[in-house]
Amino acid sequence: MKFDVISIFPDFFYSPLSVGILKIAQEKSIIKIRITNPRDFTKNGVVDDYQFGGGAGMVMKPEPLVKAINQVKTKSSLVIMLTPQGKRLDQNLVKELIKKDHVIIICGRYKGIDERVNRVFDPMQISVGDYILSGGEIGALVIIESITRLLPGSLGNIDSADTDSFQQYLLEAPIYTRPKSFRNLAVPPILRSGHHKMVARWRRGKSFERTLEYKPELMGLEKFSKTDLEILLEVLDGKNS
Ligand SMILES: C[S@@+](CC[C@H](N)C(=O)[O-])C[C@H]1O[C@@H](n2cnc3c(N)ncnc32)[C@H](O)[C@@H]1O
Repeated sequence: MKFDVISIFPDFFYSPLSVGILKIAQEKSIIKIRITNPRDFTKNGVVDDYQFGGGAGMVMKPEPLVKAINQVKTKSSLVIMLTPQGKRLDQNLVKELIKKDHVIIICGRYKGIDERVNRVFDPMQISVGDYILSGGEIGALVIIESITRLLPGSLGNIDSADTDSFQQYLLEAPIYTRPKSFRNLAVPPILRSGHHKMVARWRRGKSFERTLEYKPELMGLEKFSKTDLEILLEVLDGKNS
């Protein structure tokens, strides 16, 4: 999968792209990332100007951005505009985005981007949450990272992503590693029993318990089997500890 990021701060990306999954995925050619700087499409390096109508804050000019985007855009590119007014990124949207071959991500700065860039490209507008960041660069990394870990070959074991929270709507059950006991806190014995069916049942129950406690709104999205309903009753009766 190819990512083209449009940003006036290419340096922002060097460190995050050179460690962990993103580094490995690039080395394995699972993803390709290119950063294009709109400043390179100006004569004097100026990419912002005052707002029409007055008011504090500079606005990103349309010409350098449009030129930068057109340089990397192909017929099949998906153009994403990072903006607080966009659809909030969630795991379902990430699962949609992994189907694309080429994604262009536009990062705003300052007060934002001249509205006419939206008119020219009609991009998919994405928000990374209901708060304001100083630029789209962190959001671009969020999108790239969340997509990349779902692409085959990026993770050592794709099952690890499949059991993550949100992948099937609900939160993941608690996880443990060695030592068996830490500060008098023991790992739940069922996890050391070697009884895979019972472990799976316990995890499902803990996933219900956590979701009910922290994000009950997700319960309505899940499809429950008959066994799930039995487990849910056990959880509600406090019998899944
Ligand atoms: C300081 S913000 C501009 C905010 C804008 N004036 C507003 O009130 O909606 C500058 C840039 O950061 C990015 N940005 C900030 N917060 C964001 C968010 N929650 N989601 C996605 N992008 C965001 C956008 O690209 C935006 O153009």
